[in-house]
Amino acid sequence: MHKPNQVLLKDDIRVGADLAAWLSRGGGKGLAKALREPDAVIPEIDRAGLRGMGGAGFPTHRKWAPVAAAPEGDKYVICNGNEDEPGTFKDRFLLEHTPHQVIEGALIAAVATRANHVVLYVNPNEARALSVVRKAAGQWREHEYFSTLEAFLGGPLSLSVVPSSGLYIGGEETAVIATVEGGFPFPRRKPPFPAEHGVRGSPTIVNNTETLAHLPGILGNGAAWYCGLGLGDASGTKLYSLSGDVLRPGLYELPMGTSLQELVFEHGAGMLQGKEFKAVFTGGPSNTLLTRGDLDVPLDFDSVRQRRSRLGTGAMIVVSEGTSIVRKVAEYVSFFAQGSCGQCPPCKSGTFQLARVLNRIDTGRGVRSDLDALANLCNLLPGSGRCGLIDGAATVVESSLHHFGHEYEALLMG
Ligand code: NAI
Repeated sequence: MHKPNQVLLKDDIRVGADLAAWLSRGGGKGLAKALREPDAVIPEIDRAGLRGMGGAGFPTHRKWAPVAAAPEGDKYVICNGNEDEPGTFKDRFLLEHTPHQVIEGALIAAVATRANHVVLYVNPNEARALSVVRKAAGQWREHEYFSTLEAFLGGPLSLSVVPSSGLYIGGEETAVIATVEGGFPFPRRKPPFPAEHGVRGSPTIVNNTETLAHLPGILGNGAAWYCGLGLGDASGTKLYSLSGDVLRPGLYELPMGTSLQELVFEHGAGMLQGKEFKAVFTGGPSNTLLTRGDLDVPLDFDSVRQRRSRLGTGAMIVVSEGTSIVRKVAEYVSFFAQGSCGQCPPCKSGTFQLARVLNRIDTGRGVRSDLDALANLCNLLPGSGRCGLIDGAATVVESSLHHFGHEYEALLMG
């Protein structure tokens, strides 16, 4: 088995809210480097090939560049720790066990872009993570580093912890901004992107927790080191949340580009006894399904894209033969329907309609015209909401119909 080169989850850095321990175990090196050469940070992140780990895989340096280039004034860096989609459980681990790694990453982003507000946005349903982050943020505020940062910025730096609403939609980046402004997490249309028009109109970076956690290592050890951690053309490591019908589900940090086969059959110890692999929902479960023919796919953003799916957050929900795809899809789409914020009528009623028809088929009450209704909705709905929720719901339904249409057919009445 490939011995993973752990960076984010190394045992000796799981120090919780203990800043002295974090600094004595290699922490702080990345931030010190950023303070020495602030203008070199964004090019270094570019060379490292760091991409957003919240699902979209957008190049991090491209998100930061407009914020750095914006004129002086209020600028925000937000660490998005809402994480509420099925199958994803990586960010809460980082916030709870290595909060200083995440906060140092956010401070590096603040140095690179001259941001004077850093917001740690945490899901209150993860009560332990929230309390650890509060304590950890307090330790940074009292550390001498903080006055060095304020001297560098030429004014006060605010480091705050904002509990999210705990709602799924609260993780969408414009909903994050609405919440930080004190409102309900209603997503807003993009563009403008937060980098141009974020919190109260100020340039704002919203980065996923895992993305930020990679920064101390990249800055401290250099882009070449980070690139070398990945496999093939991929750079760095990735947290994969593995769940479903495997013997050893859990959180795995592996080289970016590790194959699905290796993740499931070596790290996950293979399928539950007597079960055969059928498919994987990647995710969260809002993407095209990966099936048996995709076991060789390297789990990195570009390779998974070439199979017409998405790596997403690195969540892999494994399904075995004998487990109903229709039931799984019905459950996930019900989750999306409940998670819709209701602002966009096609999303609100479209997710509800999808869930209703799926539930009817799953419970043996479906008729042939229900399959046509699903196909029709999947055709009509994408692009009709102001955020990606409806697109994700339609994608997973359409993909399941494509790969497992026979399972739907078998459940129809008559
Ligand atoms: P997106 O593709 O619109 O944008 C990705 C990121 O790049 C955003 O932060 C956006 O602001 C930034 N960006 C794009 N173009 C830019 C530009 N020209 N200048 C500056 N910044 C730019 O995707 P979005 O809506 O942010 O995320 C969608 C993804 O999120 C999906 O792939 C889905 O898998 C994932 N997702 C994750 C969830 C979670 O709990 N982590 C929940 C639901 C979806």
